[in-house]
Amino acid sequence: MSDYESLVNAAKSVHALAYAPYSNFNVGAALEANDGEIFLGCNVENISFGLTMCAERVAVGAALAKGARIWRRLAIVADSQQPVVPCGACRQVLAEFNSTLSITSSTLGGKTAEFRLDELLPLPRQGILG
Ligand code: THU
Repeated sequence: MSDYESLVNAAKSVHALAYAPYSNFNVGAALEANDGEIFLGCNVENISFGLTMCAERVAVGAALAKGARIWRRLAIVADSQQPVVPCGACRQVLAEFNSTLSITSSTLGGKTAEFRLDELLPLPRQGILG
């Protein structure tokens, strides 16, 4: 397992690449697969606003496109006062693959918060399809 600091640093590095001209709020995400490989995502905004993709879901796409579906940790970085918490849509998309994923969220100023996905999104499967 890569150490916590290198996963956060990976999220920090991609945070700078966010396309966020409407909110000016850059977010970076680094998703660590079970074999230690790290997949990155940054938020990608759109003039329609509604089509904006969060950093977390972009990282999910990057992992899946390399065949990595088993993950153990997610690091998120933003330049905010308090660590950001993934939005409801991202919680549901993450839970599709690991409903107990460990999440660490950090600010550039060094504040951190730790979550487990099932505290943020209990009962993700809604009984659909068994
Ligand atoms: N955003 C993320 O990418 N991840 C989060 O966890 C919080 C919010 C993005 C969406 C939008 O581009 C900007 O941050 C402001 O909400």
